[in-house]
Amino acid sequence: MSIAEQYPTGNLEDSSHSAREPEKTSTREYELHHVETHDPYISDEVTFRRINDQLEILANMGLYGDSSIDIARKRKKIDRENPATAALITELPSFSDWLDLVPTAAALDSLYDPHKATLADGKPLDPKLSEWFCNIVDGRGIRSRAEVVRGIMMTETAALDNRAQWLSLASGAAQPVIKTAKLLTEQGTLTPAVTLVDVDANSLKLARQYADEAGIGDHLKTRRMNILQPRGIDRDERSYDTLESTGGRLSAAALSIRGLMGMVRDGNKLPRNFYDTVEVVGLTEYLLEGNWGKTKAERQRGKNTPELEDEKYVYDQVIEEKDKPFAGARDFLQNAYRLVKPGGSLIVGNMLDTHPQLGFTLNVIQWPHIQPRSIDEMMGIFDRAELDGKTDVYTTPDGAYAIYRITKGR
Ligand SMILES: C[S@@+](CC[C@H](N)C(=O)[O-])C[C@H]1O[C@@H](n2cnc3c(N)ncnc32)[C@H](O)[C@@H]1O
Repeated sequence: MSIAEQYPTGNLEDSSHSAREPEKTSTREYELHHVETHDPYISDEVTFRRINDQLEILANMGLYGDSSIDIARKRKKIDRENPATAALITELPSFSDWLDLVPTAAALDSLYDPHKATLADGKPLDPKLSEWFCNIVDGRGIRSRAEVVRGIMMTETAALDNRAQWLSLASGAAQPVIKTAKLLTEQGTLTPAVTLVDVDANSLKLARQYADEAGIGDHLKTRRMNILQPRGIDRDERSYDTLESTGGRLSAAALSIRGLMGMVRDGNKLPRNFYDTVEVVGLTEYLLEGNWGKTKAERQRGKNTPELEDEKYVYDQVIEEKDKPFAGARDFLQNAYRLVKPGGSLIVGNMLDTHPQLGFTLNVIQWPHIQPRSIDEMMGIFDRAELDGKTDVYTTPDGAYAIYRITKGR
């Protein structure tokens, strides 16, 4: 029996909450671009409608009957007994295997390419599940945000007269960045030097495999590193590059005690004012605006810091728990912006609070810790992070995400 037969609801309510007209609080100026995207995975109209109608039924069932959009609700783990989630598990073979991958970057793999025969961990991807990933907003949104990022990066890079330096923070398996670098190479434009940074070794391994398959492996560096260090992630660009630029031989500067100490200190940092494009899509929507967490000493003393309240916020596999305070969205973006070369850009994605199927994502899939934000809220965060560049905002017809580009003055 299908979901529609099992749970007939008559007139479906639209679970979107886009009717709300929020008050504007930021005065930051930006240019808004509505981008028409081209998604090759969307099915015929009948299939598209059928799946999105079924999804609507489940979204209205919510979490044990509560279909409210409650982003404060703690989701420590996916509750597969929630009736709406259980119904989808019954309806879609291999959905339960895919849920095992949520919320890691591996779960995104099947949304980027739903026609793959397997999930990122090699288990089969059932065609019925694949059809859902082709048509639901979460799938369309992941692909359209990648398309927007690709468009921006290709245009920016084609205009450069030097070799482009790209940095992807919280890169995951970096499917969009690798595909863009491959397209530029095929066009004969240039192949950018790509640095991917993530805490998750498996994602970086997957990225390495994709880059080799795309023929750009020689242009790729991966770094395993925590990018939410509250003291920043930037270093003087000359302090460590002396080693890299001499092909691994220690330069005279590095050989001094001071040089060696600097190298140790800066080993887990990235060069300031260095990258033409710094891309971070798929991270800020997990971050609170302010910093959170406790130092080891505070923990040992059992002391409660006012900003956290949010020790509970830490979620296995999304934000790594390392006994340290973490940078929130504001400080992290400020830290990331420092890495951008003058004239270069920071590209940020964040789920919109008007995502039309947010109830499904939060209550049925139970994707954890998402902080959807309006464009206005993001502008406020950019202001408080003191990102002083020109701001462009890109939206797509599916309405899931907005992509923000801040161009640093020369
Ligand atoms: C939802 S995935 C997004 C992946 C990719 N940017 C994309 O859009 O396809 C979020 C990624 O952030 C990474 N991440 C989470 N906390 C991190 C941290 N403190 N430092 C570095 N990476 C982190 C995770 O390992 C994961 O790969």
